[in-house]
Amino acid sequence: MPSVSRADLSPEPVVRPRLTVLGTGYLGATHAACMAQLGFEVLGVDVDASKIATLASGRVPFYEPGLEEVLEGAIASGNLRFTTSFEEAAAFGDVHFVCVGTPQKPGEMAADMSYLDACLDMLLPHLRRPALLVGKSTVPAGTADRVAARIAAEAPAGSSLAWNPEFLREGYAVEDTLHPDRLVVGTVRETDLQTMRTVYAPLLEAGVPMVETDFATAELVKVSANAFLATKISFINAMAEVCETTGADVTQLSKALSYDTRIGGRFLQAGLGFGGGCLPKDIRAFMARAGELGVDQALSFLKEVDAINLRRRARTVDLGRELLDGSFAGAKVTVLGAAFKPDSDDVRDSPALDVAATIARQGGRVTVYDPKANANAELRHPELAYASSTAEALAGADLTLLLTEWREFRELDPAEAKQAVAIPQIVDGRNALDAVAWRSAGWTYRALGRP
Ligand code: UDX
Repeated sequence: MPSVSRADLSPEPVVRPRLTVLGTGYLGATHAACMAQLGFEVLGVDVDASKIATLASGRVPFYEPGLEEVLEGAIASGNLRFTTSFEEAAAFGDVHFVCVGTPQKPGEMAADMSYLDACLDMLLPHLRRPALLVGKSTVPAGTADRVAARIAAEAPAGSSLAWNPEFLREGYAVEDTLHPDRLVVGTVRETDLQTMRTVYAPLLEAGVPMVETDFATAELVKVSANAFLATKISFINAMAEVCETTGADVTQLSKALSYDTRIGGRFLQAGLGFGGGCLPKDIRAFMARAGELGVDQALSFLKEVDAINLRRRARTVDLGRELLDGSFAGAKVTVLGAAFKPDSDDVRDSPALDVAATIARQGGRVTVYDPKANANAELRHPELAYASSTAEALAGADLTLLLTEWREFRELDPAEAKQAVAIPQIVDGRNALDAVAWRSAGWTYRALGRP
């Protein structure tokens, strides 16, 4: 008897699939707008009606450079619409991208999978024809198998799953979506792989490499990439700790290391360390999952990566306290930056905001200024004061800390800034300033990992 290949059992791939994007946060909103720009008909879906109304009006509910232009263009072209109805999504889509958040569970290391489960609860019962679901959310190993089992049990026969992790960075979301370093696609059926090749045809034609793999590998690529990046940052920050006791300069060390092409200079910037909605929670969820799988030893180094990262925040607070002769009590402390990194208004697990809040708890009168993240910061830390400009923030400061390296802070004129403050002393938490220029303008300058 002739053998039957998996491909022969698969239905024909849809020629021009209509796409839905379920969950319209940083990842989903960007993915929806970019896929529409690439010429697909796309329906963006979210349970948050106000977010959907904002997006439908062509506005982005968070700060992401370049995204609003793509969104407006996609809506104007007629390719992109938004809805809160999963029934409409089920009727519309041939391919459903699942882009919901998987945040850290409060008080635990593990990821909270409730949004993913709720998304499936809302979509699967409405499907009336075979559909391909595509997981893009960052998930613990084994999730795709679990989702595939639900699809097999609850969706029309012929429905299937692909796993397609997303590597976009905030601040570069559009660029990373339209010109990614690589695509990773995990599938079990040949026809699903063909559909994914159709969906990403414009990128593949532009030469973007696609790694075609299984579910487990696809899931793991995402978390291991983030674990590697976090490790690289914590490595250089561990070197900064050593520099602090040996008198070496971590910025020169990092520069010297970067010329070794095996090491490379990206993600080798020492300072206050990593934060945001991805790296911290992803390494913790990865450790938690490894524990469940009985391979916790393989990832025990990530505990140290996390610890090094958090120690940088404590060290920054210590540097500030030292400059104030041992106490923040009553001092006017200016914090420049609240976002977890520049070009973002995201304050999730933001090192800058964490340091600001710690100093306030220790008695400092903290004023924060961030070009884009003030509003988000104030929601989380209403106890801090917020200024509406750098000049307003600096006025009368006894101590200044630069904690998010926005361009306008990097380009501050030390002589001008000195006129504004009460005491010219600064902690450069991101190694973003020219130490020589600031010192010669009369500032006491301290930085992490530098003499
Ligand atoms: C990250 C990954 O880069 C991305 O691929 C993934 O899809 C999501 O998580 P993002 O969270 O947007 O992206 O931020 P990223 O640019 O990676 O920066 C993370 C943190 O590391 C920031 O707080 C940044 O300030 C810090 N960082 C980065 C350093 O401290 N030093 C560096 O050299 C680089």
